Amino acid sequence: MITLPHSVRFAHPETGPVVEVDHQVGSARIHLHGAHLTSWRPCGLGEQLWMSSASEFGPGAAIRGGVPICFPWFAMGPGDWEPQHGFARRVRWRLLGARQSRDEVTVVLALDERDLAADTPGRDRWPYRFGLEFEVTLTATDLRMSLLVTNTGDEDLPVSGALHTYLAIGDITATRIEGLDDLTCFDKVSGTALAPTEEPELAITAQTDRVYVHPDGAAHQVTVRGQHSTLRVRNESSHTVLWNPWQDKAEAMGDFPDDGWRDMVCLEAALPMEASGDWPVRLQPGAEHAVVQQLRVGSDDRRARIRPGS
Ligand code: BG6
Repeated sequence: MITLPHSVRFAHPETGPVVEVDHQVGSARIHLHGAHLTSWRPCGLGEQLWMSSASEFGPGAAIRGGVPICFPWFAMGPGDWEPQHGFARRVRWRLLGARQSRDEVTVVLALDERDLAADTPGRDRWPYRFGLEFEVTLTATDLRMSLLVTNTGDEDLPVSGALHTYLAIGDITATRIEGLDDLTCFDKVSGTALAPTEEPELAITAQTDRVYVHPDGAAHQVTVRGQHSTLRVRNESSHTVLWNPWQDKAEAMGDFPDDGWRDMVCLEAALPMEASGDWPVRLQPGAEHAVVQQLRVGSDDRRARIRPGS
């Protein structure tokens, strides 16, 4: 029996069991299905995560929006592996615990091989023993998400994946992204590698699906200036993925509103497969690896929030 602090509780809406956080620093909602964060509202500010109004929530489905956890592989893995982005976002996780202080609240969910059914799609491709912990911490300014994988088996564990965050940015045409200009990337739309640009600000004006390489595999920070707010996104991962399906692709997706591309962008902390097709991480027995993403609301938004009379 888990004892929850008073800011954390279980709820059972039609969309399945959720962990709800309501603390003085902000609120959040995490579905046990996929350990999927579907809402983050820092206190006094609006919703920061984009959710599809057409999302599915049923067993085996991938929730569209929020923060899907892609694991144990990103995209189609080392070949045309189904399901896309692995199985972790399609199965039910367990709540491991939660803790709070005056300044922050943390929720931890877990998944291991005992939580999977024998016929979990993709499990036959990746039959290993593993431990996953997804730790979500809210402060007055930050959302910190850490996906920690541990090799609990006795053979090497190949790992890929991502925290596939959908940001609610208001108007995509008014949105600018800073901090990607000095990185090389692979552009999945054109199928070509792109060199760094001289443009410090990136505007999204068409279907965008880019995998940016972090220099030396180190953490990288970008700034997303949306229509009404600014978010700093720090990815402790080897790559940052930028995705917006734009009109035609959005219309072709059954779980995506036709005009949903207008007010979202995905900024993903990713560990994609190597260009050679090799796994980016191989953990020896007992070893662990974390992918971390931290979102921080901009100081301008803070000032707007505390302006007298606002
Ligand atoms: C991105 C990929 O990470 O996820 C895109 O780079 C993909 O190619 C997108 O289309 C959405 O994937 P899915 O499986 O959630 O539709």
